[in-house]
Amino acid sequence: TPAKGGKILVLPGDHIGPEVVTEALKVLDIVEQATGAKFERDFDLCGGCALDKHKDSVTEEVLKKSEQVDAVFFGSAGGPEWGTAQPNPESGLLRIRKRMQIFANLRPCKFASKTMVERSPIKREVIEGVDFMLIRENCGGAYYGNKIEEADYACDPWEYSRPEIERVARVAGALALQDDPPVPVWSVDKANVLANSRVWRRIVTEIFEKEFPHVKLQHQLADSLAMLFITKPTAFNGVIVTDNTFGDILSDESGGLTGSLGLLPSASLAGAPGTDLGRNSVGGVVGLYEPVHGSAPDISGEGLANPVAQVLSLAMMLRYSFNMHNEADSIEEAVAKVLDSKADGGLEIRTGDLGGRATTKDMSEAIQAEVKRLL
Ligand code: NAI
Ligand code: MG
Repeated sequence: TPAKGGKILVLPGDHIGPEVVTEALKVLDIVEQATGAKFERDFDLCGGCALDKHKDSVTEEVLKKSEQVDAVFFGSAGGPEWGTAQPNPESGLLRIRKRMQIFANLRPCKFASKTMVERSPIKREVIEGVDFMLIRENCGGAYYGNKIEEADYACDPWEYSRPEIERVARVAGALALQDDPPVPVWSVDKANVLANSRVWRRIVTEIFEKEFPHVKLQHQLADSLAMLFITKPTAFNGVIVTDNTFGDILSDESGGLTGSLGLLPSASLAGAPGTDLGRNSVGGVVGLYEPVHGSAPDISGEGLANPVAQVLSLAMMLRYSFNMHNEADSIEEAVAKVLDSKADGGLEIRTGDLGGRATTKDMSEAIQAEVKRLL
């Protein structure tokens, strides 16, 4: 096995971004101390902070760095003070995504701890036990290509070609195989009406027959899945893979299922774990990791932000980019323990978004202590 650790580019961004990134990196310090792994950290700017300094949301230098590191750890970008600025702060992240070719956006949908099920807007008996990974293709489809925009006519070509479909299908297969036995995979499309969906379905089927014969693949129509997410979400425990447009909508919907923006991590991968595709210098996958939430300008500067989404993004980084599965599991376990501390007879350690009164630092320190104990 290669030496543990590697090179990361840290882009804290704006508002609560730096607040939660600082705390998550303290957890990384503890992982280093406990395991001997070493993470070389290069800090730079992206978003409004980059606009202020360089008059651009991201510089060419940072884009180059993003291609050279093993992983990027991102906070959040944007805020009302850059309201009319062009380019806008959020464009920096889009340019990094494109440069890194992080085509697979992963959003886990599960409860960060057992008591968090109470926060869901869905009835407990329907939502309890939900545990799926949603993969959104993020470099193709209707959001790219040559758009036509006229006064009375517009066209967004919704295109996919074989290599784009094959690579995201491989991510789904590889993730399913991380469980033993492998979890099932659902490929989501609108093959009843869209030509590109029919090609998507045929190519995904081919890849699974050839490369993942032991993974069960099923096909699901996107509109029907939107309903089933609400009525029968646990029926999809496993891996779900879909295109850019459906993935955009379904990932927001799946985020809503658990009801806590401050707890949702994400990963964007340039390859499939365990394959040569997108492999970084330490045998993991090149990826960018960030919370689902934005920069929360309404609470920034007050030490009130929930650090959990950023900390869980760190766990995903360790798992996919650095093959540190045990450490990732321990971080998730530590977070769960802290979220449930009151239910388990201890003090309540929850930030305001979870109905508690803890500060970012309180919660972070509790998580750090727990990680230290577990590693
Ligand atoms: P937001 O996610 O920043 O905030 C929505 C609400 O959730 C706010 O009330 C906020 O206080 C709360 N919240 C979010 N994260 C929290 C946390 N960790 N702890 C406690 N409360 C939390 O979304 P919003 O307000 O629509 O956007 C604010 C800015 O962030 C905008 O400039 C937007 O463009 C940007 N944004 C950036 C993203 C990114 O960097 N990837 C993603 C989404 C939005
Ligand atoms: Mg969206």
